[in-house]
Amino acid sequence: MSNSMEMSGEPSARPDRFQNVSAVEYRAALRRHPAGVTIVTLNSRGRPVGFTATSFASLSLDPPLVSFNITCTSSSIGALEVAESVVIHLLGAHQSPLAQRFSRSADERFADESLWSPLDTGEPVLHGTPTWIHGRVHQLIPAGDSVLVICRVVRVHWDEDGAGLHAPLLYHKGGYAAAMPLHE
Ligand SMILES: Cc1cc2nc3c(=O)[nH]c(=O)nc-3n(C[C@H](O)[C@H](O)[C@H](O)COP(=O)(O)O)c2cc1C
Repeated sequence: MSNSMEMSGEPSARPDRFQNVSAVEYRAALRRHPAGVTIVTLNSRGRPVGFTATSFASLSLDPPLVSFNITCTSSSIGALEVAESVVIHLLGAHQSPLAQRFSRSADERFADESLWSPLDTGEPVLHGTPTWIHGRVHQLIPAGDSVLVICRVVRVHWDEDGAGLHAPLLYHKGGYAAAMPLHE
């Protein structure tokens, strides 16, 4: 079990008996791991904010918690640190252009207002998303060059047709892919 210094992202107080891996090795291993693609959105004083994230994970059923990471250099970090809530969109394969858009220039992400509408609570919802989760920000944990964001799930939405029609969108070996069942 890690000690509290490691948990907070500070260097370990324990003697380091292990070699470090390089960034190249780290990336080479992790790119082999396929990850579901999400877009996290939030409302920052009336301004829509959002970014593509593959760090989404389910965390706890009781209470219902999910998590994702945001890098400290992200233009969205300031807004996220003070946000009460977020919407996490679990993208379908048909939404790869949206995933690309939300990882590029922040100014362009919400430029087409026909593609999204705000919830009553202000967070933008991207149209055509098969499944999305409304989460209340529960805990922010600094970890290395990122912040782990833990959210309590307060609402889930799934599109009955969309969930069946669209394969989930994955990111694998540096590119987008669709998840297909091996057996029907
Ligand atoms: C497939 C993919 C997955 C990503 N996952 C994350 C993530 O989990 N957390 C994160 O902070 N940024 C992630 N990013 C990067 C953000 O989408 C975005 O490009 C980055 O935060 C820079 O945005 P900025 O210009 O608004 O600072 C990912 C990018 C791609 C293409």
